[in-house]
Amino acid sequence: MEEKINALRAELEADRASVHNKEELSAFWQKYLSKNGSVTGLTKSLRDVPKEDRPAAGKLINACKVWAEEQYQALSDEIDAAELAARNKAEAIDITLPAVRRPVGSLHPITLVKNQIVDIFAGMGFDVFDGPEIEDDDHNFTRLNVPKNHPARDMQDTFYVAPDIELRTQTSGGQIRVMDQQKPPIKVLSPGRVFRSDSDATHSPMFHQMEGLVVDRGITLCDLQGMLDKFVQAMFGPEVKTRLRPSYFPFTEPSVEVDVFCFECGGKGCPLCKHSGWIEVLGAGMVHQNVLRNCGIDPEVYSGFAFGIGIERIAMLKYGINNIGLMFENDLRFLKQFQD
Ligand code: DAH
Repeated sequence: MEEKINALRAELEADRASVHNKEELSAFWQKYLSKNGSVTGLTKSLRDVPKEDRPAAGKLINACKVWAEEQYQALSDEIDAAELAARNKAEAIDITLPAVRRPVGSLHPITLVKNQIVDIFAGMGFDVFDGPEIEDDDHNFTRLNVPKNHPARDMQDTFYVAPDIELRTQTSGGQIRVMDQQKPPIKVLSPGRVFRSDSDATHSPMFHQMEGLVVDRGITLCDLQGMLDKFVQAMFGPEVKTRLRPSYFPFTEPSVEVDVFCFECGGKGCPLCKHSGWIEVLGAGMVHQNVLRNCGIDPEVYSGFAFGIGIERIAMLKYGINNIGLMFENDLRFLKQFQD
């Protein structure tokens, strides 16, 4: 029996060298370890061994079986490892190849400027109020001290949606809505789209404004100028000064137009400031007593100021854009230039 086993071991060892893949491994298993395999057959041949030698022979057979199974397992592991290595090699990815770049979007210049303005005034304690784009005539005009047939209505060519319902021509109606809901002290900004039947290089039928309103005891024009100085300096540079010129808006008295010292030429005169050294940036004034009264606020106790900023105008000045139409064409070559 011992000889037989040794011969079988030698044969198996020799066969091992020729097993390189799963099929050959399967044939190897068939030959030695299957039901009809020669290692399995050793147990059957135990019958022919004399009774007294059987225990010793059984031990040898068992040891041979365990060994043969170990050989099989080792071969199987080797083949698995070789197949995995071959697959890894075939499927290798060159991670040094540059990736395809996905374009990243950026904020629209109007959104950038709007966010900047909100940030600047939020730092001074302002809240933000969102008014409706479709507005009634009362809020857009009448309660802002612009009654029907008032000549000031001609300053703003209005789109009507229905009788007495219009696309708001200004964010100033937000002042009325805020004062109806809130009593002083009030400090709000109201940004949004406004609409006028008007179109050229500096006017668009839809544009954006930022309304500001402050109402409290003892508010004066000095407070207005102080806050606006802070605003233009944050927006255009720390050296920039403002100048107030008398103007007219029906909802403010007195009304002013606010100019900034030309940050382009330092006041010497250039095309941006039309050679005057000053650039007009916004309209403002002390809230008209009638407007306060229209909202149930006593003008003998409270006073306030308001301002209206054209967001496109600020963006055009800040970024040197000469045609408002560029803002609304959505040309990526234009928009890509504004990465915050
Ligand atoms: N609503 C004005 C306009 O559209 C701008 C404006 C001027 C707003 C003076 C104000 C203000 O609040 O006080 O032309």
